[in-house]
Amino acid sequence: MNNNVIIFDTTLRDGEQSPGASMTGDEKLRIAKALEKMRVDVIEAGFPIASQGDFDAVRSIANAVKDSTVCGLARALDNDIDRVGEALKNANSARIHTFIATSPIHMRMKLRMSPDQVLEQAVQAVKRARKFTDNVEFSPEDAGRSELGFLCRIIEAVIDAGATTVNIPDTVGYNLPQQFGELIGQLIENVPNSDKAVFSVHCHNDLGLAVANSLSAVINGARQVECTINGLGERAGNAALEEIVMAVTTRQDIFPCNVSHIDKAQIVPTSRLVAGITGFAVQPNKAIVGVNAFAHESGIHQDGVLKSRDTYEIMRAEDVGWSTNRMVIGKHSGRNAFKTRLQELGITFESEADLNQTFMRFKELADKKHEIYDDDLQALATSTNLETENERVKLIALKVCSETGETPNALVTLNIDGVEHQMSASGGGPVDASFQAIETAVSSGSYLQLYSVNNITSGTDAQGEVTVRLEKGGHIVNGQGADTDIVIASAKAYINALNKLLIPKERQHPQV
Ligand code: KIV
Ligand code: ZN
Repeated sequence: MNNNVIIFDTTLRDGEQSPGASMTGDEKLRIAKALEKMRVDVIEAGFPIASQGDFDAVRSIANAVKDSTVCGLARALDNDIDRVGEALKNANSARIHTFIATSPIHMRMKLRMSPDQVLEQAVQAVKRARKFTDNVEFSPEDAGRSELGFLCRIIEAVIDAGATTVNIPDTVGYNLPQQFGELIGQLIENVPNSDKAVFSVHCHNDLGLAVANSLSAVINGARQVECTINGLGERAGNAALEEIVMAVTTRQDIFPCNVSHIDKAQIVPTSRLVAGITGFAVQPNKAIVGVNAFAHESGIHQDGVLKSRDTYEIMRAEDVGWSTNRMVIGKHSGRNAFKTRLQELGITFESEADLNQTFMRFKELADKKHEIYDDDLQALATSTNLETENERVKLIALKVCSETGETPNALVTLNIDGVEHQMSASGGGPVDASFQAIETAVSSGSYLQLYSVNNITSGTDAQGEVTVRLEKGGHIVNGQGADTDIVIASAKAYINALNKLLIPKERQHPQV
């Protein structure tokens, strides 16, 4: 009997609702492919009615992903549902997820509807969604603060109308583990047709309990968990996929189900991909995917681990994809060795031209840096993929002058819409001067919200990986750049962000 918990990833939808985490269509597609590779069951690709860009992203994911079910979110409204149906038209396996709020406060204050009206709209929405697919999920939003009697009534009605998954969201992250587990148990017991649908949970982390609440729900009968990579999501985020998967895997003595279908070795690479694209760095002590998650600092621990790993380790770092980060190839390695290592790391390119370009970059890097590690290759691949976007601004050259007692100065040469421009500026430091020069040339009028530098590997010759977050009129974008010279990496990241900002974007939020 298949006793797997369905892993429903909503990084691309709820995750993207974190302020500052917006992603381009290409970036979403790359994350979707990484999730498919991890063998996630369902990928919630977005909220198609939000904007044309969101619709296009959901459609391109639906067209490209073959092994996971692709899902789109819709409020319980005809236009929303039709838009999802249209976006998922070519999906191998499609799901429509429709929702309406059921808590007294949401129904009264937000919807200004009576419970009966809400129930009727939910039923109509599920029936409409069933015209497009027989895989329909219904969520009573804010279920965690809804009345049990009304929840049972609406759930029974939507299952009768054709919902195959019923998702119970703790929208505001208010519940406690025991209480939430009991809620799921009571719903499964009291809804007469509960055996006709899979019960799912969707927990927010406002009290830091999203994972604990989800796991308690699984123990009480839920068989789908909605989660995100790195716990990204609205406000304090959603339940972290990596924690759910590894808790269920590690505590098989407790869970009556498993997640054996998930390729756990993809967890760390996917976490890094999401952190790089969104600019939301993973805290070092974050479970599973933080850099310190498997580091043993104290002498006693190190001694224990050396004698027998399981004295202090309940999971193995390599099982979740922490690479040994070995030195792979050097300056004299050929294209074939390079390509083989990329394949081993699961890095693929859309075209042979992209592979060749990355190989050229690898050679340039090998000239500057003696030892090339797996993480360097990941960064090279990311920077090649970044360039597939429609770039209006390109960096041609950058010269910076930084000297004790002098004001740093930068001279930048850019190609903007096919025309070369040169601009110089001074600033508090070489990065500041470079950004001033670029901004003077582009005149974006944007505001720098975040600037962060990470070294990809150790050593002073390591590549610096820079994230820049820009905001203009409520539109927030993230840019990335990597180079052994961190001033150049910073300029690349700034320009990458500017290119995204120059694409106009307007979108609706599903819960507003
Ligand atoms: O948190 C929430 O209630 C949601 C729903 C749309 C499922 O994200
Ligand atoms: Zn949510």
